[in-house]
Amino acid sequence: MKTRFIGQNEINDITLAAAGEILRDGGLVVFPTETVYGLGANALDESAAAKIYSAKGRPSDNPLIVHIASPEDADKYAIVGDEYRRLAKAFMPGPLTVIMTKRGCVPFGVTGGLDSVGIRCPENKIARALISAAGVPVAAPSANISGKPSPTAAEHVKDDLDGKVDMIIDGGECTFGLESTIVKIEDGKITLLRPGAITLDMLEALFDKVEVAEAVTDKLPENARPLSPGMKYRHYAPTAPLWLIGGSDEKRIAYFSAADSDTLLLVFDEEKSLFHNHNVITIGAKADASSQAKRLFAALREADGTAAKKILAPLPKKSGISLALYNRMIRAAAHNIIEL
Ligand code: TXA
Ligand code: MG
Repeated sequence: MKTRFIGQNEINDITLAAAGEILRDGGLVVFPTETVYGLGANALDESAAAKIYSAKGRPSDNPLIVHIASPEDADKYAIVGDEYRRLAKAFMPGPLTVIMTKRGCVPFGVTGGLDSVGIRCPENKIARALISAAGVPVAAPSANISGKPSPTAAEHVKDDLDGKVDMIIDGGECTFGLESTIVKIEDGKITLLRPGAITLDMLEALFDKVEVAEAVTDKLPENARPLSPGMKYRHYAPTAPLWLIGGSDEKRIAYFSAADSDTLLLVFDEEKSLFHNHNVITIGAKADASSQAKRLFAALREADGTAAKKILAPLPKKSGISLALYNRMIRAAAHNIIEL
């Protein structure tokens, strides 16, 4: 298949109408969002959704998020209650996915056979204009080959999906860089399934109680069934084994300094000058978790382009936006953590 590429200066009503038509006709369009790029198909068309799974090499029991152009549209695809309305008022459009009981129009081929569906109204204007142009809700996972880091730039998408999708829309670098926060609403209970830019503190400001799924921070026992099927799959794994190093900065820097030439160090921007004689990739400013979120997946892709046999990175904290970094990095590291 020849993939049509729409550059940043080619995005207009005409190209978005063409993209919408591809989606209505059952094709695949990659589009930017504020979190990561999405690989979209008509969410009401089971055979279109099936193409997403084959393009990504994604296991069929891993459900897709359904993207809508306006928070009010959720009611057409899910049974919405007061909790959804509060979340929507506070955080939508934005980097939040809400899981609720699905309506009959959403095929099981989109929800991985589950009775629930994840609904997300992205903040990115190109994404919403595309969904409006399509006139149908858009099922979209991150636009990477399964197991690779999510794409935060159109170049990453090209590397993974050129020739496998009908169109790629280049919206530049994603503003946040990690996937949306996922919250499940069930019988009035609120559970955080995946941390993101909408932080646990922000959710706790809205509800008396927010549970945190075990898989957010901990390794699940073998054979456990996570609340979110995606959490059981190995994710974002670089080819060389990654180790996360916890403890004081002083101890970590000393540990990094002793690394050999086969080891790649992921270091904060300010630390680069300390490691002239080492292989390093920078991962954002130390005191700025947002800049680290924006860099993480690109850094992991860069790491794969090196000959490193081992990668070391700082262990993120478990608070605020860093919780999202922690959640992604423990997966990338297959839970290899060294506390100094
Ligand atoms: O920021 C994002 O959410 C991006 C952009 C493109 O919107 N999308 C994204 O999709 O990250 P994906 O498929 O890579 O991750 C979706 C996660 C998976 O772990 C999946 O298992 C979980 O959401 N999920 C989706 N629907 C679910 C449901 N009904 N119940 C439980 N988990 C669900
Ligand atoms: Mg993904």
